[in-house]
Formats: sequence, C-alpha cells, structure tokens
Amino acid sequence: MKVLVTGGAGYIGSHTVLSLLENNYDVVVYDNLVNSSIESIDRVEKLAGKKVEFVEGDICNKDKLSQVFKQFKIDAVIHFAALKAVGESTQIPLSYYQNNVHGTVCLLEVMQQHKVHNFIFSSSATVYGEENDVPYVETMKLGTPSSPYGASKVMVERVLADLALSDPNFRGVSLRYFNPIGAHESGTIGEDPKGIPNNLLPYVAQVAVGKRDKLGIFGDDYPTKDGTCERDYLHVMDLAQGHVAALDWLNRHSEFSGVEAFNLGTGNGTSVFAIVKAFELAINKEIKFEVSPRRAGDLPAFWANANKANQQLNWQASRTLEKMMEDTWRWQSNNPNGYLA
Ligand code: NAD
Ligand code: WQD
Repeated sequence: MKVLVTGGAGYIGSHTVLSLLENNYDVVVYDNLVNSSIESIDRVEKLAGKKVEFVEGDICNKDKLSQVFKQFKIDAVIHFAALKAVGESTQIPLSYYQNNVHGTVCLLEVMQQHKVHNFIFSSSATVYGEENDVPYVETMKLGTPSSPYGASKVMVERVLADLALSDPNFRGVSLRYFNPIGAHESGTIGEDPKGIPNNLLPYVAQVAVGKRDKLGIFGDDYPTKDGTCERDYLHVMDLAQGHVAALDWLNRHSEFSGVEAFNLGTGNGTSVFAIVKAFELAINKEIKFEVSPRRAGDLPAFWANANKANQQLNWQASRTLEKMMEDTWRWQSNNPNGYLA
C-alpha cells in the first residue's frame, strides 16, 4: 500500500514515515521544507533501511500535487503539512488560513480528481477550545480556539465533515493530538524548531544543552495542583504508531465511509513544574528557570479521554514520561544544532 505523507519531513511526519516503513507501507513524502530539512528523510531511510520517495512541493500547488498522484499509485494520504506556531498565527493569520485551510482544500480536490478516498488529518486538542471540560472526549462539540492556528484546525474538521456528507466514497480520520514530545530512541531524528522554541520541551532541552540561559515558566498561579498548567504529553513514537493504527483501521473497515475523530493522548495531565523535574532527573542536571507572566491563550489544564482510540484503533500511548525525557535528551545532546550539525 502506498501512502502520500504531506509534511513528512517535519517533526511528527518523519517519525510517522519511519513507523509506516517499519510496517511495510511504501511512502511518498511531499513537503515544501518551509519548517524542516531533507536531512530528516535521509536519516529515516537509514533507520528503516528502506527508500522514501521525496517530492519538494507546496500543497497549494495543485498541478504539482496532481503530478505526484499521476506518477505514484497513491492509496491513502496522511496530511501533516501545515504551519503550526500559535503565536505567529496571530501575527500572520492570512498565511495560516491560506496554508492550513486553503492548502488542505487543494489537496482534497486533487485527491478527489484522482479517486483517492483514504485521508488521515493532523488535528489537535486545540479544537476543543475553551468551552469544554476535561478530559476531552470526541463526542464534545468543537469549541472556539483562541488562535488563528487553532481555528484553522476547526475549519478543516468542518471541511472534512461537509465533504463526507457530500461524497459517499470519502473515508476520513481526524487524529486530535495532545502534546507530542520526545524523539526516536536512536537520537537521530527529533524536533528541530527554527529560532526560539515556542513549545515547552524543545525549550527545556535547549536550556539543558546550554543554548538558552533559562526557561521562563508561563505562570504559577493557575487553579492546578502546583499552579502551573497541565498538559497531556505523549511520546512522538506512540503518536507515529497511532497513524499506522488509523491506517490499519481504515483497511480493516472497508465498509466505512464518512469521517471519524480520535483523540491521541495518554489520558494524564502533567504540570510544567513536573516536566522540569522529570527532565532534571533524566539528565541528572539542574534546569535553570524563572516564573514569568502567563502566556496569552493558555488554558490551565487539559488532557485526553483516549478510550475511543484504545478500543477502536487498538492503540495506546505506552511510553513513560521518563522515556520521553531520555529520548528528548538523546536527540538534543547528539544534535545540539538540530539537523544543521
Ligand atoms: P512541523 O512544522 O515539524 O511539520 C510540518 C511540515 O509541513 C514541515 O515539514 C513543513 O515544511 C511542511 N509544510 C508546511 N506547510 C507546507 C505546505 N504548504 N506545503 C508542503 N509542506 C508544508 O510540525 P509538526 O509538529 O510535525 O506538526 C505536523 C502536523 O501536526 C501539523 O499539521 C500540526 O498542526 C499538527 N499538530 C502538531 C502538534 C504539535 O504539538 N507538534 C500538535 C497537534 C497537531
Ligand atoms: C506547554 C505548557 C505553557 C513554553 C501547543 C499548541 C497546541 C498544540 C501543541 C498544535 C504550557 C508552558 C511553554 C515555555 C512554558 N499544537 N510553557 N514555557 O501550548 O499546550 O500546545 O502545542 O496543535 O495547539 O497550543 O504546548 O509546549 O507550548 O506549552 O511555561 O517556554 O508549557 O504555558 O502550559 P501547548 P506548549
């Protein structure tokens, strides 16, 4: 089975490509490299001992996408390609809607032209917005995310729902990721943010390796156990395997049409202080931090109810927080400058 992976050179994409290869799927990666490096694909090929077809291109370029569908006999698409920085999305919202919403529509149109119906979408816990109580469960109504980035994910879920209503052949899965962290245990592929990291773990790891002076902890006066925000952190390799599980689910359910959402998380919340402690323990070194003001748009606490994915996809996030920290550190210390080395 041949899978087109858009955004496959990125953080979650590269780990998923590896899992796909390990599970005997053939992979074509389509990526414009706006936030990634081709080096990730070279390293995935080495880890898997298999070849990946790579095409550099933008999902908004329908002609180029169409060429890819003509050249390769694609059976399914896993769609990671998107811009993903929450803060940046408030500065350049039009780029986010153009890339994430319009780009997805272009991809879906080209899929339709080429009669490819199997589609897995990178959604996010952010679609639950502020309105819903934790733990988040798939039966909840989608909320109103505080950023254009989050809104773009809600919009695409709406596009998929409408497409599924109109096209009886469409077979879509939205995977709502919680907070992916960590790296492949080889320490050769991992998260390689450009500039100052927005997310917690890359920031902590860069402090540990001496690239940043200290971590700013965004608020310690939230209504949580220790006052810092709580999130559902899951290992990126568990998340990668969630995509394989979703593809297997589509293959097992040949009668299925429509669109189905699954939360991919551990079901546990962990605070920022607890993450810092766990990282210190894993590397046996102190992480300098200071408490700074709250970051706009942060919710106090959220985590997944992951029962649906556990039961229907036969998937469970199994790697421990300790393993997430160790693997983050192996990647960061082996590659202090990411793929640029
Ligand atoms: P990433 O930036 O590492 O990967 C995205 C990839 O898409 C990059 O390789 C980038 O070059 C590519 N890309 C972006 N725009 C493109 C375009 N127009 N055409 C072709 N390629 C394009 O991000 P990631 O963390 O791996 O995220 C992957 C997906 O998962 C995204 O859709 C993101 O919104 C979603 N997601 C991420 C998280 C997270 O915390 N990392 C959580 C929930 C959902
Ligand atoms: C985690 C916690 C921060 C950095 C974001 C997106 C979400 C999803 C995942 C894509 C929060 C705190 C962080 C720092 C800190 N992405 N923090 N100092 O905000 O839960 O989720 O990424 O869909 O949509 O919003 O993740 O890693 O940025 O933050 O104290 O330097 O760490 O306040 O509580 P977040 P994060």
